[in-house]
Amino acid sequence: MHEALKDKIRNRTAKVGVVGLGYVGLPLAVEFAKAGFEVTGIDLSEEKVAKVNAGDTYIADIPESVFRPLVESGKLSATSDFAVISKLDTINICVPTPLRKTKDPDMSYIVSACQQIAKYFHKGMLVILESTTYPGTTDEVVLPMLESEHLMVGRDFFLCFSPERVDPGNARYQTANIPKVVGGATPECTEVGALFYAQALESVVPVSSTKVAEMVKLLENTFRMINIGLANEIAMMCGRMDINVWEVIEAAATKPFGFMPFYPGPGLGGHCIPIDPFYLSWKTKQAGIEARFIELAGHINGQMPLFVVEKVQNALNDQSKAVKGAHIHILGVAYKKDIDDVRESPALDIIQLLERRGARLSYSDPHVPRIRFDGVDLCSDEAGLAKADCVVIVTDHSVFDYRALVKNAPLILDTRNALKGVVSNNIVRL
Ligand SMILES: NC(=O)c1ccc[n+]([C@@H]2O[C@H](COP(=O)([O-])OP(=O)(O)OC[C@H]3O[C@@H](n4cnc5c(N)ncnc54)[C@H](O)[C@@H]3O)[C@@H](O)[C@H]2O)c1
Repeated sequence: MHEALKDKIRNRTAKVGVVGLGYVGLPLAVEFAKAGFEVTGIDLSEEKVAKVNAGDTYIADIPESVFRPLVESGKLSATSDFAVISKLDTINICVPTPLRKTKDPDMSYIVSACQQIAKYFHKGMLVILESTTYPGTTDEVVLPMLESEHLMVGRDFFLCFSPERVDPGNARYQTANIPKVVGGATPECTEVGALFYAQALESVVPVSSTKVAEMVKLLENTFRMINIGLANEIAMMCGRMDINVWEVIEAAATKPFGFMPFYPGPGLGGHCIPIDPFYLSWKTKQAGIEARFIELAGHINGQMPLFVVEKVQNALNDQSKAVKGAHIHILGVAYKKDIDDVRESPALDIIQLLERRGARLSYSDPHVPRIRFDGVDLCSDEAGLAKADCVVIVTDHSVFDYRALVKNAPLILDTRNALKGVVSNNIVRL
């Protein structure tokens, strides 16, 4: 069983499936199709399935010139029918893992994907969970849904966890050249999983278990979240002491060892950094360990939108204006530079906080034509820039004309150091 699957993987005749065709799943499907495998994407969204089959990429990091030929040559296709699994040899699960309102893990997407997979599951398959989750998920949640009297893990099928480290918008590191950590439920599973990824990705890092692989991802993102929390706290301190925090970090970063720069900002965003550490704290709470660093950084990072709003308020007051009735234009609403994703974006909190204080809001973001959430419904409107009493740079997209902004806006709050080095008395920095 083991050898037969390995042969199919080596000679690239294994039929590859990817469940969940989002920011993680679609780039992965593309890499395996590029490596010569026949890849089938499975997604509940009929819209995404239709787009893939029409050769239309909806992920900005995947160029049309790469995507369309893969679809036209039959290497890549999509369906919403899980029955296709009976013909597949491998499955990567890339479905969402959000938090519930209570900050508990929402496992429902993984469970529902596995229920569907279990219906068509057969001997000789490799299943790899890629969704970020708490340590223990693969062995405790996924394995019992797939294993049976006739199907034993490590003998009849292979199960791994492999964290996804993709960084949307990063031109230097993409799915193919980010080292891939993989840990299996048994040593045989790790071996098959590592062999699989080695066909399409540049480097593979096998680890001894699924739990180690799950924990790797949580360490990486918790490290980032906590260090951003520190940078944000330092920014608040510097604000009080009238010190330019950006200059401080830049100078500290000249130390050639023992320091790594992290930057403050308007708050955390995206599907990973604000969420993943709470998967860890939820799990460790069950083991009687309180994740104090995570809770503290979560608290500090969560205060940043309010900190930004108070800065706007103070800056307007200095010009003898009030937030109430002022026109405030938010420049950029995506959670980070040069991408179109607004999930958990701090811009949404900032807009809501300013609206509650009676401000009139507009925004512009070439990557996000419309935002609708909690009673707010706005369309990107560049004309709002010219009318604004204050412009808040929330996302420092490359396409913005910062020079014109500095020339024309009466007041700018720069939360990203987008105006680094520019000296002008209409600029207030975080
Ligand atoms: N976006 C990132 O930068 C990033 C980076 C690393 C890890 N991750 C992790 O990867 C996972 C996926 O994230 P994403 O950003 O790709 O999410 P996404 O929302 O972009 O995509 C998920 C896809 O899964 C589909 N889906 C949901 N339930 C399904 C089901 N039962 N069966 C089939 N399809 C289903 C959705 O329709 C959607 O297309 C999450 O666990 C996330 O934490 C994301």
